[in-house]
Amino acid sequence: MSFYRNIVWFLKGIHEYTRRGYEQAAKHFVPKELDVAVVGRSFMITGANSGIGKATAMAIAKRGGTVHMVCRNKERAEKAREDIVRETGNTEVYFHCLDLSETHKVWEFAESFKMQYPSLNVLINNAGCMMNKREVNDHGLERSFATNTLGVYILTQSLIPLLQKSRDPRVITVTSAGMLVQKLQPADLQSEKGPFDGTMVYAQNKRQQVVLTEQWAKSHPAIHFSVMHPGWADTPAVSTSMPQFHQMMGERLRSAEQGADTVVWLALTRAAGKTRSGRFFQDRQPVPAHLPLAWTHSTPEDVRFFMTQLETLAQDAKKPHTDKLPSFDPTY
Ligand SMILES: NC(=O)c1ccc[n+]([C@@H]2O[C@H](COP(=O)([O-])OP(=O)(O)OC[C@H]3O[C@@H](n4cnc5c(N)ncnc54)[C@H](OP(=O)(O)O)[C@@H]3O)[C@@H](O)[C@H]2O)c1
Repeated sequence: MSFYRNIVWFLKGIHEYTRRGYEQAAKHFVPKELDVAVVGRSFMITGANSGIGKATAMAIAKRGGTVHMVCRNKERAEKAREDIVRETGNTEVYFHCLDLSETHKVWEFAESFKMQYPSLNVLINNAGCMMNKREVNDHGLERSFATNTLGVYILTQSLIPLLQKSRDPRVITVTSAGMLVQKLQPADLQSEKGPFDGTMVYAQNKRQQVVLTEQWAKSHPAIHFSVMHPGWADTPAVSTSMPQFHQMMGERLRSAEQGADTVVWLALTRAAGKTRSGRFFQDRQPVPAHLPLAWTHSTPEDVRFFMTQLETLAQDAKKPHTDKLPSFDPTY
């Protein structure tokens, strides 16, 4: 089955996720949808110092939005902030330092943000990582899971009350089409079973983001949730984590701006706000979150077990350090 999924996914990718795929899709875009001014609306973007996150921050700042860049590296973030302010003339661009894999600090950051700012209109969960080897954070959590899933969960959960108080609130999560080859596997969230395969762990985390978005849409109808994949874009993440793929694809990769296009569309347009909450997007269109005949649909029991673990781990992460991870009974 995984061979079938990988082949179907790659053929789909060559056709749709490349620069050419973007140019084909863009023929059906409505350019005036993005002729908007968003002065007074505020946008939090994680991983906004580079690639898709920076391109998104730039596009939003150009339209007058207040941008909160949430980044782990002060130097890189300040350089990116300077570029954005210089290019857009918008000074309402703020940097907040946070490593999303440090789950305890994600709580602290979100709680202090809520005390400091009266509103947040849009949260963009963009930061993401692919690890080559298994590493754990202070809580013993595998680092890609901590960054891509639990960090996203904690940040979003903590900011939901602030988003709910704001006008037309939205949460957009940047997943990867790589998740199409994965079925939710809630019994091994820490990737402890078998050899560590960073690419598959990343794809599993990205499937988890899609499931999370569907669940949030059900439990928080006042907020518009969406999850999107950017196609294959030429960014530092691709050149460093997947150097062979980067070299093989070369000029066929999208630009970071093309990768960011659907994030920007989801964050800014009225048209996006009218779509059903909880959906998966590609090139400004809701698309199926499963390949045909790939058997990747989650069972309700798997989703419940996944969400229960996330909530328990998130509560556990409120403590600065833990000696032992909570244990879960996988015989649900
Ligand atoms: N490019 C593609 O083809 C592609 C395809 C599918 C999905 N995506 C997704 O697109 C999103 C953006 O990636 P990108 O391609 O634009 O790559 P990128 O330029 O390398 O950006 C990744 C961003 O995430 C940040 N980040 C990583 N781990 C973090 C952590 N623990 N705490 C805080 N920030 C962290 C990085 O910070 P540093 O600069 O400090 O490393 C960087 O700002 C990711 O979620 C990625 O999975 C990209």
